[in-house]
Amino acid sequence: MGKERFDKIIANQFNVSRKEARLAIRKGKASVDGMTLNDPSAIVEVEADIVFDGQALDYKKYIYILMNKPKGVLSASSDKNRKTVVDLVPNEWHRNGLFPVGRLDKDTTGFLIITDDGDFAHRAIAPNKNVFKTYEVLLDGDITDDMIEIFSKGVVLADGTKCNSSILKRLGQNRAEIKISEGKYHQIKRMFGTVSLGVNELKRTAMGDLKLPDNLREGDCILLNDQEIGQIFHKC
Ligand code: URA
Repeated sequence: MGKERFDKIIANQFNVSRKEARLAIRKGKASVDGMTLNDPSAIVEVEADIVFDGQALDYKKYIYILMNKPKGVLSASSDKNRKTVVDLVPNEWHRNGLFPVGRLDKDTTGFLIITDDGDFAHRAIAPNKNVFKTYEVLLDGDITDDMIEIFSKGVVLADGTKCNSSILKRLGQNRAEIKISEGKYHQIKRMFGTVSLGVNELKRTAMGDLKLPDNLREGDCILLNDQEIGQIFHKC
């Protein structure tokens, strides 16, 4: 898996700052393969047997957390005054550099991945990568066949921005499922605005083939494994 600076491994994997990691290492609180290592700048094999403050390391280069985002929480890493999705991540999964993959509006709920893997985030949200995001939407008016057709051809938003083709499926008179491959600002609300419908409720339910588990309650998180991450990139 490779080598990294000792203080960086300790900071990232045990959720402490680089400064705290350096101090603790100098105080002899960390060992590699059974031997105390006091040098924060030492280059260490990440798969070595590393123990910090009595806790053995289970090294993960990146972490992928799936959250059922509740309403009223900001899709951001940090904010001075408001609660963010990263604030809701359980302590044991906290590490430096966590961020949400694509932003959901404050009043949107559902499927949100929080990670520290920038390449993954790019592959998941770049419009040319064609990863479909599925949403359930409750509207303030009825869905017509015309709308399904308009959405499939690619909606032009009020400011002239052209959206890619999307798949709109009626689930009830004013309830629908919609799949889009982009993540423009307020995209779904603006798309329905072009057909004079307001969005009362919006929930993201899937990315690619990976669905939000029915039993994951709002505000709760699970860790994703490689196979689940792979499902995001299946074409649906
Ligand atoms: N589109 C929106 O309008 N809002 C979201 O949160 C996500 C997609």
